[in-house]
Amino acid sequence: MVTRCSSKVTGANKGIGLEIVRGLCRQFEGTVYLTARNEKLGQEAVQKLVSDGLNPSFHQLDITDEQSIQALKKHLLDKHGGLDVLVNNAGFAYKVGDTTPFGTQAEDSVGINFFGTLAVSKALLPIIRPHGRVVNVSSQAAQMALKKCSAELQARFRDRSIKEEELVELLHKFIETAKEGKHQENGFADWAYGMSKIGMSVLTFIQAREMEKDAREDILVNCVTGANKGIGLEIVRGLCKQFEGTVYLTGKNEKLGQEAVQKLKSEGLNPSFHQLDITDEQSIQALKKHLQDKHGGLDVLVNNAGFAYKMEDTTPFGTKAENCVGINFFGTLAVSKALLPIIRPHGRVVNVTSQRAKVALKKCSAELQARFGDRSIKEEELVKLLHKFIETAKAGMHQENGFGDSTAAYGMSKIGLIVLTFIQAREMEKDPREDILVNCVCPGWCKTDMTGYDLPTRTAAQGADTAIFLALIQPKESQGQFFYDRKPIAFYE
Ligand SMILES: NC(=O)c1ccc[n+]([C@@H]2O[C@H](COP(=O)([O-])OP(=O)(O)OC[C@H]3O[C@@H](n4cnc5c(N)ncnc54)[C@H](OP(=O)(O)O)[C@@H]3O)[C@@H](O)[C@H]2O)c1
Repeated sequence: MVTRCSSKVTGANKGIGLEIVRGLCRQFEGTVYLTARNEKLGQEAVQKLVSDGLNPSFHQLDITDEQSIQALKKHLLDKHGGLDVLVNNAGFAYKVGDTTPFGTQAEDSVGINFFGTLAVSKALLPIIRPHGRVVNVSSQAAQMALKKCSAELQARFRDRSIKEEELVELLHKFIETAKEGKHQENGFADWAYGMSKIGMSVLTFIQAREMEKDAREDILVNCVTGANKGIGLEIVRGLCKQFEGTVYLTGKNEKLGQEAVQKLKSEGLNPSFHQLDITDEQSIQALKKHLQDKHGGLDVLVNNAGFAYKMEDTTPFGTKAENCVGINFFGTLAVSKALLPIIRPHGRVVNVTSQRAKVALKKCSAELQARFGDRSIKEEELVKLLHKFIETAKAGMHQENGFGDSTAAYGMSKIGLIVLTFIQAREMEKDPREDILVNCVCPGWCKTDMTGYDLPTRTAAQGADTAIFLALIQPKESQGQFFYDRKPIAFYE
């Protein structure tokens, strides 16, 4: 099932655009954006629709202004993680009898109708989600103008294998020759608007052809962090078997990650690889860009990557606190901040945490237990508390400050992750995207490089089971819960 989250109509403050918005507001399940280059006129049009009981949103957009296009793109990505329907309606025509020189008419008509739409498409088509729709409002003027072109030009415009570069070149040539009064000698119609709509119609055919080769279709995308070994690798293995879509195995070390992918491929599975160091913002942004460019978003994120010191490790406690919290909490937070906005409706987020958090929580002061246990705690406060833990641990003052004893660096980091899960789940409840579920899991004591292979009682595959279960849960099944063995358990009693 697909839920349309946002639909956008350009040049919609009046005329056909306004009516498209009106109709979509009635029929489209999701946010409809009315965009217009003039903010005041756009807002007035929105108010008109609001007074009719409809509920469009507004965003400024001048289709000939790259900065304006990019601002809209950023807004759509930040607020909705993408776009589902784009109606390129904005257009311009000189009145019949207008005495503006033909060269200027050609430049303006083609500049707005063709090059403007092209610029909007170049920016927004990459963020259209699977099942998206693009409608370019063209005109039969295109057909009429085409008949007035030379036979050679007609053949080129009609050629269904024409490339975008050639189309752009032809329309530039039309403008140039129109300015010199030589457009007809060069085979172009004596009609600026008609020529611009030829461009728009042919552009539609080109875009449609490109969409046929596009990776987006019905593909669902799943991304597991820290998956070159241990529980993460088992989560990827299980998801490759059960998840209908692309599964990304990510790892901070490219070589180890690729080796893990090859291992799974030799078993007949088909994960993809992308590098990801969860403590490196550049690496996170590169993954985000890849997911957006290739898939238009993400459907499941499993935050598995984690780090722990061995029991016998003698690293100073302050350093342990900094590294454990830095990777397990702040790393996961950074990944979430980047990727949650591009999670599509019906997405799932699973944070792999640990019951060591419960042990660490019990060692905290009553006041801190209450803060961490407060289901209305804000992310800023949580971040502040974990920074304070690191600072006081470095100064050897963590116990005085209520943070438990010096065995709790890892446990404190996982407290952070559990509480973060509760916060993210709460935010998802207010999110316009439908049915995104965020939960966390303790895999149990598993045989991995982190914990060793002698004492732990479970295999990594057994540890992966509940994370896989949570990655695939049904709508409304669970939001903001801490799971163990497929069942919610209490964090703060
Ligand atoms: N094993 C258990 O008993 C147990 C119990 C409770 C919770 N957990 C949690 O389960 C998760 C998986 O642990 P595991 O037992 O499978 O441990 P593991 O075998 O040591 O694997 C940890 C994974 O996290 C990756 N990682 C560490 N830092 C990273 C970073 N900055 N960026 C990206 N990836 C990073 C590691 O990559 P490299 O190989 O490149 O270092 C590795 O792939 C962790 O979150 C852990 O805290 C484990």
